[in-house]
Amino acid sequence: MNVDNFRLQLGGKEYVPIIIGGMGVNISTTELALAAEKLGGIGHISDALVTYVCDRKFNTTFVNRKRKKYVQYTNSPDKAAVLFDLEEIAEAQKMYIGHTISQKTGKGAIFLNCMEKLTMNNSSETLKVRLCAAMDAGIDGLTLAAGLNLRTLELIQTHPRFREVQIGIIISSVRALSIFLKRAVRLNRLPDYIIVEGPLAGGHLGFGPDDWHTFDLKTIFTEVLDFLKKEKLNIPVIPAGGIFTGSDAVEYFKMGASAVQVATRFTISKEAGLPSEVKQHYINAIKEDIVVNMASTSGYPMRMLIQSPTLRYAIKPNCEGLGYLLENGGKCTYIDAYYNAVAARKQGEPLAIKVKTCLCTGMANYDCWTCGQTTYRLKDTTNRLANGKWQLPKAADIFCDYQFSTDHTIRLPEPEVT
Ligand SMILES: Cc1cc2nc3c(=O)[nH]c(=O)nc-3n(C[C@H](O)[C@H](O)[C@H](O)COP(=O)(O)O)c2cc1C
Repeated sequence: MNVDNFRLQLGGKEYVPIIIGGMGVNISTTELALAAEKLGGIGHISDALVTYVCDRKFNTTFVNRKRKKYVQYTNSPDKAAVLFDLEEIAEAQKMYIGHTISQKTGKGAIFLNCMEKLTMNNSSETLKVRLCAAMDAGIDGLTLAAGLNLRTLELIQTHPRFREVQIGIIISSVRALSIFLKRAVRLNRLPDYIIVEGPLAGGHLGFGPDDWHTFDLKTIFTEVLDFLKKEKLNIPVIPAGGIFTGSDAVEYFKMGASAVQVATRFTISKEAGLPSEVKQHYINAIKEDIVVNMASTSGYPMRMLIQSPTLRYAIKPNCEGLGYLLENGGKCTYIDAYYNAVAARKQGEPLAIKVKTCLCTGMANYDCWTCGQTTYRLKDTTNRLANGKWQLPKAADIFCDYQFSTDHTIRLPEPEVT
């Protein structure tokens, strides 16, 4: 039995039940998402730092113009006035999503991963604009992630596509699910799919930094299925986090999964946005290199490689141009950490900021090497080349390996000649 024996039914359509999870900032690129779509699956793009992503992709100047507009706050810890222009957010969102959607083959679907903890110094309004612009641009689905805002559905309920676009949530406990559902029931708009993300996933985690290893995906997944059955709700449930082979996925399908969401294996694909040399670090990683820490300013634990350059940053906060993680009122824990370190620095000593990192800058520069717990196994999924480097597989190879492999085998890509 393999993954191809199963199909995901969603919104009246049928898909190969493999979803590539959203990976900000632009690790899950247009090209990666489209590779899944072309094979009948679902690919995510992420709208984290969308203005920055547009500037790089389309030579727009959103970030520079914002930086210039707020230049007077560069040396100030008070960023309350550093706000996004909502029209520009909408423009960037439509540009990026429209560009991706226009290349669809129609075989699969493209969803948006919307990290709600990107509060952008105006959480509700920016979230509303992001989601509405995504629907305007023709996105097939909205996956609400990281820091679920209980008001999200209310914010977008008047959009003409509110009841037609697929809406999913990522949760890591039955508790979070039941709280979200209570609000959703009131609006008569239940989520169309539920992604249950376990403790082995990449990016931010829905567990504590010290107790994540006491949880396990299969247990939470079963609890979610039982809860939905008790509530007589028929919503597709999709496990994520640590599903490394097609056979891992089949185990979940046998338990009642409708699809699986996977990401780590695709981080090293040719199509993923990480620079090639960073992909080599991912493949070379050993178990001891993979850590969960609280360096992210989001307030959530995050998994990353210990070698991430962002962990050694001592840079000035970059909120004037970026500022995606500014809480309402213009606060960010990195701003505090930075100015505290500046005040505490003794003459002649280098500036050292230990507790927090500037995640906006780190993610923008691909210096925050967030990864899943299975990253140390990536070397088993590809070939070592004659020059000592690792071959970067095509996303289609990885997707098809998930779809057709059996017995936990991993088919290596066709060797590439260097
Ligand atoms: C490099 C990387 C970046 C990620 N970034 C995000 C993100 O921005 N938002 C999010 O909701 N999930 C993020 N994730 C989680 C994935 O979407 C996915 O649910 C999870 O990693 C699946 O587990 P796996 O990586 O073990 O296959 C990220 C994962 C990785 C590996």
